[in-house]
This record gives sequence, C-alpha cells and structure tokens, in this order.
Amino acid sequence: MSSALLDIHLTEHDADAALRADARAGLTANPKQLPPKWFYDARGSELFEQITGLPEYYPTRTERALLERSVDEIAVASGADTLVELGSGSSAKTRVLLDAFARAGTLRQYVPQDVSESALRLAMDALAVEYPDLELHGVVGDFTKHLDRLPRGRRRMVAFLGGTIGNLVPAERAAFLTQLRSVLQPGEQLLLGTGLVIDEKVLVAAYDDEAGVTAEFNRNVLHVLNRELDADFAPEAFTHVAVWDVEHEWIEMRLRAQRAMTVHVRGLDLTVEFAAGEEMRTEISAKFRPGGVRGWLEATGFEFTRSWTDPDARFALTLATAV
Ligand code: AVJ
Repeated sequence: MSSALLDIHLTEHDADAALRADARAGLTANPKQLPPKWFYDARGSELFEQITGLPEYYPTRTERALLERSVDEIAVASGADTLVELGSGSSAKTRVLLDAFARAGTLRQYVPQDVSESALRLAMDALAVEYPDLELHGVVGDFTKHLDRLPRGRRRMVAFLGGTIGNLVPAERAAFLTQLRSVLQPGEQLLLGTGLVIDEKVLVAAYDDEAGVTAEFNRNVLHVLNRELDADFAPEAFTHVAVWDVEHEWIEMRLRAQRAMTVHVRGLDLTVEFAAGEEMRTEISAKFRPGGVRGWLEATGFEFTRSWTDPDARFALTLATAV
C-alpha cells in the first residue's frame, strides 16, 4: 500500500503577490526585464512542451538520452533512499530515475516539488498506482524560496534537471546552491543537469526556431500580464529576440517593441512607456563548461562526485555530494 502526503507552501495568493512584485520591479527597471518563471501558465507550459519536440531544441532529448544511458550508474553511485525532484511538473524523467533507483534497491521515498499544485496532484496520483511500494511526499513550493521545507530522508539525492539552473543569474545561482547545501546533511547529494557551451549557431537556433514556437512562448509572458494584472500589452507588436552573450555565456531572450507604446498595467496602477526598438529581457539560459559546473559546486559546499556527458558534449549530468 502506498502512502502519499502533500505539503503546500505556496498558494495562489502567494503566487499573485510574487507576480505583482516581479512585474512592478521589472517594468520600472532600466533596462526592463521580467523573470522567466512567469512564462508557465497552462498555455506557456503547453508551448514549452511543443518546444521540447522541435528539431532545433536539442536540450530535452539530449538530457533524456543521457539520463537513460547513465541512470543505473547514477543510482548505484548515489545509494539514496529518498529522491527529491525540484520542478518535477509532469516530468517524464521521473520514471527513468525511479526505475533505476528501484533496480538499485535503495529507494523508499519520492519527493516531487513543483510550483503547480494541480500538476503535482496529477503526477502523484499516477505514481501512487505505478509505484505502490513507494512513499510519496509532494511539496508545492518555489525552489528559490522553500528549500528549507523539504522533508527529510535518511539519505537524499536532490535532482535539479533540465538545465533550469541556467535561468538563474550568477547571484541567484550562488544563493540557490548555498541554500540547497545548507538544508542537506553531509553525504546527501545533488544531481544537476546543465547545458554546455557549444557552437553558437546551434545554441541560437535552439532558442529561435524556424516554426516560431519559442517566439510565441516568449510573448506568452505578455498574455499572462494582460490576464493576471489587467494590462493592455499588444503581444504581436513585440518581436522575439534570442542572442548569445559571449561574455556571460548565456542565451538571452528579449522582447523588442516594434514601435513606441504606452502600456497600462491597471492591476498595478502603473503606466509603462516603451520606445520604438526598446528591448526587455525575459530569460537567460546560461550554458556551462565542465570546469565551471565543478567550480560552482565546490564554491557552495559540495564535492564533485562524478559527471556524465552525451557524445556531442552538449549536456552534462553532475553528481555532487554535500560535504
Ligand atoms: C526549461 C529553463 C530549461 O532554458 O532551455 C526553452 C526554457 N526557454 N526555450 C531553457 C526555454 C526557451 C528552458 N528551461
């Protein structure tokens, strides 16, 4: 018989307050910017699903194939009794991990964490049927805020996959890793998925596809603001821009105003002016060098254990241990 618990640390009211704070800060900043977490309403999540199937968008399928090849070695190297998955959503990777840990024979508990309570409930209902012997303990929360609320295990491995750490700017990245380290016991582990620095043309194409799905995904944040904050952005008057920043080694997505516009964000009682050609940053997606990943881990209290890379060296999975 399986047992399931669900802790809720993030309500709709909290999410609304966070969106308001982020929108006010970002739209009044110079240059303007919006954090990428607000892409993911139902339509944005659906567009991201579409992105993962695009010919140009290599990260998801590369990580998935790499995980499938390496997961038994990862499970054996880890020996965890509790698998924590940050941003688990409806993750297809979950089963790959759970099956390998089941083969390794150590796993007792799975802790999926996500901002979406509905996605988490759906995922947990299915997992309870598929893995009747596994203890399930879901956590609705924001991984940048609620790591201290993660349930304990005897020996946990925290999986943070998809390259999502690349969405954090360096200060946020350091804060995230430091906080994660502080909630782990020595010997507990992190499995980190990171996109690697590769040919610029391949990188840019992955974030600026022929079919325009990423452009629609990018503009979706404006639809979110229109609906949630009663704003009057004209999303089609913004052009999708994806550039490789050589200095920071990240892809930067922006929305460029095609003409001068005055936008009213009625829910914030805020009027925002865009100049013709003005660009607003909506996402960074940092890529790493193998030594860089190791450096970040060692600087934040982890010890590098082992890493796995696909044959084209586009993606890395790194296992690190809290010291
Ligand atoms: C879900 C954050 C890993 O950065 O590659 C895809 C999001 N943005 N196309 C990424 C995304 C544009 C994606 N992550």
